[in-house]
Amino acid sequence: MTIGFIGAGAITEAVVTGLCEAADRRGRAILLSPRTRERSRSLSERYAAVRVAADNQQVVDRSELVFLAVRPQVAETVLAALAFRPQQRVASFIATVDSAQISRLIQPARFIARVAPVPPAARRAGPIAMCPPNESLAELFSSIGTVIQVSDEGQLDAFFSVSALMAPYFELLESVSAWLRAQGVEAAQADAYTGSLFRAIAEKSTQPSGEGFAELVAEHATRAGINEQMRRELLAAGFFSQAQAGLDLIKERMQGRATYEDTLK
Ligand SMILES: NC(=O)c1ccc[n+]([C@@H]2O[C@H](COP(=O)([O-])OP(=O)(O)OC[C@H]3O[C@@H](n4cnc5c(N)ncnc54)[C@H](OP(=O)(O)O)[C@@H]3O)[C@@H](O)[C@H]2O)c1
Repeated sequence: MTIGFIGAGAITEAVVTGLCEAADRRGRAILLSPRTRERSRSLSERYAAVRVAADNQQVVDRSELVFLAVRPQVAETVLAALAFRPQQRVASFIATVDSAQISRLIQPARFIARVAPVPPAARRAGPIAMCPPNESLAELFSSIGTVIQVSDEGQLDAFFSVSALMAPYFELLESVSAWLRAQGVEAAQADAYTGSLFRAIAEKSTQPSGEGFAELVAEHATRAGINEQMRRELLAAGFFSQAQAGLDLIKERMQGRATYEDTLK
């Protein structure tokens, strides 16, 4: 089967790398738009299964399954210029364009799902949310991440919104490491301590129990200890409620009711 990608940016690179590194490749061929030339060329040099097409239309013509991976701002123009065929399957990574709009733009092809991969897909790690559920896509993506399928598109937008916490997470690590450096700690040791701590505690959170994370909070907050104090002070300062308000804002943006210019009050 040939899988095509319209757009060869950061998320295409992550997904293609993950798929090409996965043990179960089963004769998949991958065809990329000739965009971000350095990136598409280097993927085709690295992996025998990857080819770069002459143009977007060739990607559509030669692929059974097409992933849309351009930025939302250009989606309408890019898709309007392409001729899809009936029975062809199309899935979209585009964050802020809903399935009704995508279905309209790819007529007469068959829209199958919106998919929300994240950059760690390159290392075959991290969540991949999709809506609506689709067994063949779920099977494809299960080789590169934890697939979470939902039927409610609002829930997919919520998952997409949570993925906006990746840069803030690294901002937290950067501020912690900078604080250590300000204490006179050598930079490499500051980064080693910070990275190792956050990685080790993150690993504790990967078992889905459905019961939330309160038990892990309790496990890490010794009574009257330094973790309990830090948590109490950050709660009182609104640190976590601001993060939730940020998620509300991003979800509003995902659904077209807010823009990048909107801010938290
Ligand atoms: N990055 C993520 O973590 C992530 C996660 C989930 C979903 N998404 C979604 O995936 C989409 C792509 O995100 P990204 O981060 O990969 O963006 P990106 O790195 O900016 O990549 C966008 C790609 O689209 C290409 N492009 C622009 N105009 C095009 C055209 N007319 N025809 C074909 N390709 C064209 C760009 O090529 P040039 O460089 O040559 O202009 C580039 O290869 C977005 O809609 C985003 O919402 C991203």
